[in-house]
Amino acid sequence: MTRLLIDCDTGIDDTLAILTAVFDDNTELVGVGAVWGNIDVRQAARNSDYVLQLAGADEVPVALGAAGPLNGDDAVFAAHVHGADGLGGAAVLDHRPALSGETAVQQMIRLSHEFAGELEIAAIGPLTNLAEALSVDPSIVERIRRVTVMGGAALVPGNITAAAEANIWHDPEAAALVFDASWPVTMVGLDVTMRTAITEDHHRRLSEGGPVGRYCASILGHYFDFYTGVRGRRAAANHDALAVGIAIGQVEVMQSATVPVVIDTTVGPDRGRTVADLRGMWADRWDVDGARHTVVLATEPGFDDRMIERLAS
Ligand code: BDR
Ligand code: CA
Repeated sequence: MTRLLIDCDTGIDDTLAILTAVFDDNTELVGVGAVWGNIDVRQAARNSDYVLQLAGADEVPVALGAAGPLNGDDAVFAAHVHGADGLGGAAVLDHRPALSGETAVQQMIRLSHEFAGELEIAAIGPLTNLAEALSVDPSIVERIRRVTVMGGAALVPGNITAAAEANIWHDPEAAALVFDASWPVTMVGLDVTMRTAITEDHHRRLSEGGPVGRYCASILGHYFDFYTGVRGRRAAANHDALAVGIAIGQVEVMQSATVPVVIDTTVGPDRGRTVADLRGMWADRWDVDGARHTVVLATEPGFDDRMIERLAS
């Protein structure tokens, strides 16, 4: 049984990721932390709580986390990708989330004690909450089994800038702390997530499904529009659900590299770039304190189909 904590900025693919965990027989979703990113943190918490209730998983606590990046800059959201409500205009805005009294950081630290050595964290938004947890309790690294980050890009360009993937770019200082820490990190970046595709056929199957499937269909329209601009066809990237699928063992990793990953925190065109020393030639000269992480470079095909089948049923 995988004990999983998801930390997310609940937009459209985050929602699919939460459902992927909820409907996995071998996973216990023990908490959801909300973080700013695609949208404001409160809306992220509302969207998370709503989908958990819809899926009959209202026992999963949702905790409020950071409202902006670590360095105190203003939060920049991604309404052009996920809509102003995070769900392409389909969010239930009057839903009153039953938030736990804890902050996302307190929840993460508590769960790390409760499930010491077992807890998996899937971080599918900016890494602000994880960085704050590290500074509150650096010993957390010893109790976490693995942190799976949806973020970064090793061999392909960025998506929010030419160099950077959105989750890392939103808070590079936080990402640097997370990647420099000694817990095992698996980076599920654009190298693999841009090979996923939720298609019009998937959309149709969801809309013919049960309440969860129909809800998923209802949030996809805006996301399709955005990806039509990026890919020239109605096929949306399934970033966050792929990362959760890897974290809980639903998706086999076919190729990966265990190397240091350095986050560019300079202010300029490279800000937020994940520099992965895939050839292993430069790590000794980098100040990475021995940190070595797994960069996923290829995954088994078929996850999108399997996910849709489960969500539509
Ligand atoms: C990541 O950014 C967000 O838009 C998605 O939810 C995903 O976590 C992809 O770059
Ligand atoms: Ca996300």
